[in-house]
Amino acid sequence: MKLITQENMMSAFAGESQAHMRYLHFAEIADKEGFKNVARLFRAVAFSEQVHAINHLKKLEHLKDGFVTVAHAPFGPGNTSKNLELAIMGEEFETEEMYPAYLEIAKLQGERMAEMSFKWAFESEKEHAKLFRRAKEAVDKGEDAPFKGIYVCEICGYTVEGERPDRCPICGASGEKFREF
Ligand SMILES: [Fe+2]
Ligand SMILES: [Fe+2]
Repeated sequence: MKLITQENMMSAFAGESQAHMRYLHFAEIADKEGFKNVARLFRAVAFSEQVHAINHLKKLEHLKDGFVTVAHAPFGPGNTSKNLELAIMGEEFETEEMYPAYLEIAKLQGERMAEMSFKWAFESEKEHAKLFRRAKEAVDKGEDAPFKGIYVCEICGYTVEGERPDRCPICGASGEKFREF
């Protein structure tokens, strides 16, 4: 794998791993504050980030050594409103800056497998940002988010609220590959 794409993949793995853990923490806080649907959203998105992290990690199977890697991440957790703000910041960074840049570099370097891994994450993060914005709107009015089922594709991490999809619009997996939260 070309060096710059490889470094981007390691950083993306670190970023997704941290997001996974951050959202599990935020879910517990949302539960304590009585925002059960927001807690469900955080757990669903945490699973989606886990899928991305593992997809990225699998692209690094050729590495044999230890590496130091860094990832951009929002810190300073607080109440659920604040945590949703951090979540939106993180997802916007990924969709507006990080993944578009990583995707272009992977394309330029002819790294097709890396490009697919970045693309699957990129498409999911766009949905995460929308769902977190909807949740924040409700929480800032003192209400829980009006979510029905939240479904996450176990193959690519695509996340959708409402009804179970027949097929994943991103990776083409069948409906039963979606985990319900
Ligand atoms: Fe995300
Ligand atoms: Fe998928």
